[in-house]
Amino acid sequence: MAQPPLNWRAPDGRAEALAALNAAGAEKGPHWAASTRAVFGEGPLDAPLALIGEQPGDKEDEEGRPFVGPAGRLLDRALEEAGIARRDCYLTNAVKHFKFVQRGKRRIHQKPGAGDVAYYRWWLEAELDLVAPRRVVTLGATALLALSGKPLAISRLRGPARLQGREAFVTVHPSSILRAPDADRAGAYAGFLADLRAARDLSVADLPPAGAH
Ligand code: URA
Repeated sequence: MAQPPLNWRAPDGRAEALAALNAAGAEKGPHWAASTRAVFGEGPLDAPLALIGEQPGDKEDEEGRPFVGPAGRLLDRALEEAGIARRDCYLTNAVKHFKFVQRGKRRIHQKPGAGDVAYYRWWLEAELDLVAPRRVVTLGATALLALSGKPLAISRLRGPARLQGREAFVTVHPSSILRAPDADRAGAYAGFLADLRAARDLSVADLPPAGAH
């Protein structure tokens, strides 16, 4: 049977609801004052696959888009190799503002704490409710904490999972591949790619038959 395309038409009204949600969250929260801006999720509102990262980095904060820095470049490459078009995915972060410490001219990324993740959860939950993806891919421990509400080990859950009523797929964060020792990087990347392919296959299998919408 022919597979339907990964993206399909968004029902009316959801773009406005998402814009209102983003406006409601943009100028509050533990890190908004120091950051340049909130970095909103992006992608089609009927994306079958949503990918959740940790938080915007320096480049994302500057450009106002998720995953446009070094981790984003690795993610783009892996998505392409996995046969997933980035434009067909909804990409967002657990934490919407860049948390950093200033060292001279450099802004050094700070990992969000459990309190940061808890603060932003209302926002993530609301946007996932609006987009209603078939499957949510958690990239790294912060995204897993945000989606599950509990500190869970990626190593124990890696793969398909059901988290707080959502179909999920647990995998590592692309930056962990960039940070891996040289000898381990190719293997780490291959594992990440295999996860993305599996998540894609699951979300495509979940889609309604062609012509049903
Ligand atoms: N890392 C993330 O988790 N999110 C981004 O948007 C960029 C880097």
